[in-house]
Amino acid sequence: MLDLSQDRPVDALLANAGHGLGKGFLDQDFSDVHHLIDTNITGTLYLLQKVGRDMRRRGAGRILITGSIAGFMPGTFQAAYNASKAFLDSFSFALRAELKDSGVTVTCLMPGATETDFFERADLMDTKIGQSKKDDAADVARQGYDAMMRGDGDVVTGWMNKLQSAIANVTPASVLAEMHRRKAEPGSASH
Ligand SMILES: NC(=O)c1ccc[n+]([C@@H]2O[C@H](COP(=O)([O-])OP(=O)(O)OC[C@H]3O[C@@H](n4cnc5c(N)ncnc54)[C@H](OP(=O)(O)O)[C@@H]3O)[C@@H](O)[C@H]2O)c1
Repeated sequence: MLDLSQDRPVDALLANAGHGLGKGFLDQDFSDVHHLIDTNITGTLYLLQKVGRDMRRRGAGRILITGSIAGFMPGTFQAAYNASKAFLDSFSFALRAELKDSGVTVTCLMPGATETDFFERADLMDTKIGQSKKDDAADVARQGYDAMMRGDGDVVTGWMNKLQSAIANVTPASVLAEMHRRKAEPGSASH
């Protein structure tokens, strides 16, 4: 249980913890799926509520939620992950609207593929996306931080990701799901 009553006030909450999970849904261990949902969704919302209540009471605070452009497309061979990010992308805008005029801002950071331990940890290194060139993590973090400090609603980092998300907005979900297969199917790195 998180007790903030005795602690220092939190000026900025960067809700960033999360992980992916490669391979087909039916081939994954359910305990891994459960862990992903617990971390990406349940843990994030728990933290947001605890810290958010304190921020609202004080009438000040900045929240940055790490969603993803993955939330714009069905994640074939990363299905639970992309769905968890769709949840967070959506949740972030709703919470922002609820906290309008409260002194607390909510910003959603939506990166594309970024150079971190994410792909190794999600067992995606044998996929096209796992082997692709990725954005620099420090650049992405800086863009997220700056957007949070400005109080923006969201930031999609990098022009390629902006283009990808604009295309995703006007493309049928079935087509996006097939496009995702090509980059996340196990073994796709060598095709
Ligand atoms: N890399 C990308 O391409 C990409 C793109 C879009 C969005 N994102 C999102 O960016 C966020 C950070 O990921 P990353 O790319 O930096 O990957 P990463 O290098 O694997 O870092 C993941 C971070 O989340 C923490 N974490 C994972 N599971 C946790 C748990 N159950 N409890 C507490 N902390 C936990 C890790 O802590 P420990 O190191 O202590 O385990 C680590 O600090 C995630 O939400 C991810 O979904 C990543």
